Amino acid sequence: MSERTVAPFGRRAARVLDRRRCGSYVVLRCADPEGPRPQGGQFYMLTAAERWGGGAGERPFLPRAFSVLRARTGPGGTELEFLLEDVGPGTKRLCELGPGDELLLLGPLGAGFEPPAAGRRPLLVGGGVGIAPLAIWQDELGAATPALLGFRDAARAKGAALLHAAVVATDDGSIGHHGLVTELLEAELDSSPAAVVYTCGPPPMLEAVRALCAERSTEAQLALESGMACGFGACFGCVVPTRTGLVRLCIEGPVIDASRLETAIVAGAGH
Ligand SMILES: Cc1cc2nc3c(=O)[nH]c(=O)nc-3n(C[C@H](O)[C@H](O)[C@H](O)COP(=O)(O)OP(=O)(O)OC[C@H]3O[C@@H](n4cnc5c(N)ncnc54)[C@H](O)[C@@H]3O)c2cc1C
Ligand code: FES
Repeated sequence: MSERTVAPFGRRAARVLDRRRCGSYVVLRCADPEGPRPQGGQFYMLTAAERWGGGAGERPFLPRAFSVLRARTGPGGTELEFLLEDVGPGTKRLCELGPGDELLLLGPLGAGFEPPAAGRRPLLVGGGVGIAPLAIWQDELGAATPALLGFRDAARAKGAALLHAAVVATDDGSIGHHGLVTELLEAELDSSPAAVVYTCGPPPMLEAVRALCAERSTEAQLALESGMACGFGACFGCVVPTRTGLVRLCIEGPVIDASRLETAIVAGAGH
């Protein structure tokens, strides 16, 4: 198992450098000059420095978990990108941030993806905003790594531009294959099952990917989600079942080897 990158102690301030729309999503780029370069599949707990906790019922109260979309290291230190979908008070507030605003972040946290064994072909499979950790992982594996990406509609499918040469499926058929991304995966594995599948997306998609891979004895690594309050093992809010017992997803995941899972349907996860 690779050594994980460990977060510096405590929360630190990161300046937002850029905010851009990508179809239904927002990409936030920020400077994290003192922070380490994260690994693909790791995540950060994010909070807006101002107006966090000012909504109805004082929401959002806790920080929110986000996969790192992309990381660069330049003369000014590390720059991070996050892909956000506005689904509630926390993501809404983060989507409002613009250049010069301050973001408080903790990370990189958790265990990311493991490289494929020699001779194994990596294959990326993403759904919706779950494509985020696959972009940084494709940067690490190489731009030629094939990616199959599924989205609900054309506005969300614009996210496919964040990866190289992705093959797209949409639920409504507005772009690419009309149907589920798992149909593309099934065809791909039928022609060549000796792959390692790296995947992130909504729980039903993850479960379908897990089952397809299990039937063919294809290795798979799943980036799961669950409700996370702290991100570093203290609250036990993120516990998920595995074949060997309950684990804290923020410590043992979010990337979990499919062989450890009976199911990828995790209580409390998924929009
Ligand atoms: C490790 C990890 C990585 C993530 N990466 C991303 C990312 O790259 N981009 C992104 O947009 N979102 C990501 N998420 C999900 C993100 O944390 C939630 O969307 C966010 O917490 C919702 O907060 P909110 O206040 O906007 O909405 P809330 O009101 O808290 O929730 C809105 C809806 O989203 C559901 N939800 C809340 N938290 C989660 C969760 N953790 N997983 C799935 N569904 C949830 C709720 O059940 C509710 O239906 C990630 C979550 C985890 C655990
Ligand atoms: S999020 Fe608190 S223990 Fe995992």
